[in-house]
Amino acid sequence: MPQLIAPSAAYRDSYIAAVEEFQAEGRHLQDDPAQLRADFTGFVASQLRLAEPAHVPIGLMPESVYWLVEGERFLGRLSLRHALNEHLHTYGGHVGYEIRPRARRCGYGNAILRLGLEKARALGLRRALVTCDSTNEASRKIIEANGGVFENAVALEGRPYQRLRYWIDLTP
Ligand SMILES: CC(C)(COP(=O)(O)OP(=O)(O)OC[C@H]1O[C@@H](n2cnc3c(N)ncnc32)[C@H](O)[C@@H]1OP(=O)(O)O)[C@@H](O)C(=O)NCCC(=O)NCCS
Repeated sequence: MPQLIAPSAAYRDSYIAAVEEFQAEGRHLQDDPAQLRADFTGFVASQLRLAEPAHVPIGLMPESVYWLVEGERFLGRLSLRHALNEHLHTYGGHVGYEIRPRARRCGYGNAILRLGLEKARALGLRRALVTCDSTNEASRKIIEANGGVFENAVALEGRPYQRLRYWIDLTP
């Protein structure tokens, strides 16, 4: 059974292998695997600090980062923003997630959002905004399978697709 955990240095090798998979498809290009290998503990600490308001740059919102893991394998990452600013309210939502390329189409996408919504409820949110691009069929299915109620589609400047906005009720 996959679990959603706080970032942990125990997943160093699996996490770095996942970054290399993401980079092969053009994601996570800002991450440097050599740097991660050299100071993974520091990287984990930086991920945990994203939840602390005192460490969040002006204009950004605190976010809790969680990792989906199974056994010793890192499977994916979820970011839970504690509140929405205008940009998140229009485009980003409360929750963002990704599953490493080699673990896709196994149901982990559905699982990471389901488990992330439990964290959102525990944080005290009564409803969560989740968004995806209109071209992202997998993410749209994941949001709808987790109770997403479509609100609207917003235009993205210079792009031929829209961002779809869904609300998920978290009240018991
Ligand atoms: C979107 C993403 C999280 C899906 O992860 P996943 O582990 O493959 O998802 P699941 O296996 O739980 O699949 C969920 C549904 O999407 C479908 N699906 C998965 N990949 C798909 C694809 N490439 N095209 C169409 N449907 C797809 C599955 O068949 C499943 O449908 P079902 O519920 O009808 O059976 C993953 O592709 C990813 O990380 N993409 C890059 C980052 C991203 O887009 N994040 C979301 C931002 S909103």
